[in-house]
Amino acid sequence: MDQRERIERLRREIAEHNRRYYEENQPVISDEEYDALLRELELLEREHPDLASPESPSLRVGSDLVREFRKREHREPMLSIANTYSQEEVAEFDRRVRRELEGETVEYSCEPKIDGVALELVYEDGRLVAGVTRGDGFVGDDVTPNLRFISSLPFRLEGVSGEFMVRGEVYLERAEFEKINELRREEGLKTFANPRNLAAGSIKALDQALLEGRTLCFFPYGTVGAINGEMSQHRRLLRLREMGFTVNPHIERQNSVEGLMDFIGRFEGLRSTLPYDIDGVVIKVDSLDQFRRLGTTAKNPRGAVAFKYRARQTETVIRSIIFQVGRTGRVTPVADLEPVLLAGSTISRATLHNEQEIARKDIRERDTVVIEKGGDVIPKVVEVRKDRRPADSEPVHFPENCPVCGSPLVREGEEVDYRCVNAACPAVVENSILHFASRNALNIEGMGPALVTQLMQSGLVRDYADLYTLTREQLADLDRMGEKSAQNILDAIGGSRKRTLAHLIFGLGIRHVGTGTARTLAEQFGSLDAIMDADRETLQAVPDIGPIAAESIRDFFDNERNRVLVERLREYGLPFTKERTRPAAEGGFFAGKTFVLTGTLPTLTREQASELILARGGKVTSSVSKKTDYVLAGTDPGSKLEKARALGVTVIGEEEFLARVREEE
Ligand code: IVH
Repeated sequence: MDQRERIERLRREIAEHNRRYYEENQPVISDEEYDALLRELELLEREHPDLASPESPSLRVGSDLVREFRKREHREPMLSIANTYSQEEVAEFDRRVRRELEGETVEYSCEPKIDGVALELVYEDGRLVAGVTRGDGFVGDDVTPNLRFISSLPFRLEGVSGEFMVRGEVYLERAEFEKINELRREEGLKTFANPRNLAAGSIKALDQALLEGRTLCFFPYGTVGAINGEMSQHRRLLRLREMGFTVNPHIERQNSVEGLMDFIGRFEGLRSTLPYDIDGVVIKVDSLDQFRRLGTTAKNPRGAVAFKYRARQTETVIRSIIFQVGRTGRVTPVADLEPVLLAGSTISRATLHNEQEIARKDIRERDTVVIEKGGDVIPKVVEVRKDRRPADSEPVHFPENCPVCGSPLVREGEEVDYRCVNAACPAVVENSILHFASRNALNIEGMGPALVTQLMQSGLVRDYADLYTLTREQLADLDRMGEKSAQNILDAIGGSRKRTLAHLIFGLGIRHVGTGTARTLAEQFGSLDAIMDADRETLQAVPDIGPIAAESIRDFFDNERNRVLVERLREYGLPFTKERTRPAAEGGFFAGKTFVLTGTLPTLTREQASELILARGGKVTSSVSKKTDYVLAGTDPGSKLEKARALGVTVIGEEEFLARVREEE
């Protein structure tokens, strides 16, 4: 290939990766691979100035413009920083800076590079008036309505006049990311690949309803315009902290190249202990005057460099590809790997997502693959080492029949997934029983995979309603089960009758009905019969229930087998109607009040506290706003408490909370 062709090809590839990264939030290559492509292009373009083009992606900051948002221009362009992956390049950066600032003292501000999305906050006379994404670096999307989902943003700044901008990174804590993905999995929705993608998708969500219950965070890393003539980057961040921002606690100042290396090394060790993802560290010339004098290249300031840690990757061999069948019948291909140690844990499985993914990457059995542990707990295959592929290797065939029960698999409409639609498929049944018994559903303690398999194999249980027919003798007869454990299981099954209607609805395992939707259904209809009788339009008229969930609910109850199953549950005494809210609730402490929970309570779980509030006519939301009546705070409360204080919302502890509950008994 000649150089011209190579340049053109690189430009096309990079443009495509930009699109995937910025517009779809679904990158397909690692940052490191991306940077390698970009470097190759930059190098070739330098060698061939005759082939330069103003359209080249090497000259542009990637664009994340979403069409429907209002646009807003940045008063100063939002640049990004040049990436390096070697300490040698950091040393080179330091030498260059010192050369250009000859005779001057040089200090650096060292900061973690948060793996989120850039956001600019615009303040006018100290009032927060807008939030703007980076966009193409010059014009961004005005995402102001979404700012309220970011915890602990100061809405007012004291002593600031005129226009003042704070720039920083919006991110999600890993725990929050996993919680959201878990809910999405329950509801049969697509999960997000990592916290960064979820942060990007959230801050740019056009539909705020999607964001309810999500908590985004923000670390500032700079301002446009000085703060009271402050001329050091490090001190500027400390000032932002005084002004009410949550500034990253790990920032520090260094004045030598050894200090920089030390920071880089220490931070890599710290990385896995942080509750959020970082992808490297940023090193900036601390004096804002020097920083300005060093100037910029086409898209990067010359006074800063980002050192990126390599993704946590390793190589291993795929022993075989297996096809797992889940509760909804969805078939997921999974790679069974030669176990390897990666980022501190032994990995023997990696998800291959779906047929398209396997075809796109051409993944085969016995392939040597590069696996990566990203933000998600499940490792993924990022690359196939085709050079090490066995000569007799063959492409994978996605099964046409269910690997468990043999019935033909189907693919509905536009879905990428294949499903086993045999309701009696042992894999589907087993997973539905496990779901029915899970903590957020009927909460039958002890009903784990081993027991469910045993119960099914012995023919005692063919669906979740059968659980209520089990006797002590039957249970005690099972292998490895004593009288005592048999009784415990029976008690747990009996106890499930005291769960609520919402728990039962969730436990039924209707596709697209997660815990939230289940609660809404219980709330709005009051009984399972009312839900069963509701037509699609009626269901859809309920807030938060879209056409897909409505159709899925109707499908479930229109199915004869499910009807029979549900009738049996009625016979066995499961909660078919909503527990009545006590009359005292009206006009009581809780009625009509909105609560936000934060921190760990001494005795109650969050779920228990929420149930107490809901049962007494109150509401629970996830973020503190002016509409919040009470914040119930435990230990390690975090930013919600700060925000409550800032907004003057009443904060109560568990003791007072329980006293109020008792008042209404
Ligand atoms: S400074 C001109 N500081 O990483 C300097 N950026 O390429 C502008 N980032 O997209 C950025 N943590 O969103 C800076 N402490 C930090 C950062 C940081 C994360 C992001 C930023 C930008 C990219 C840098």
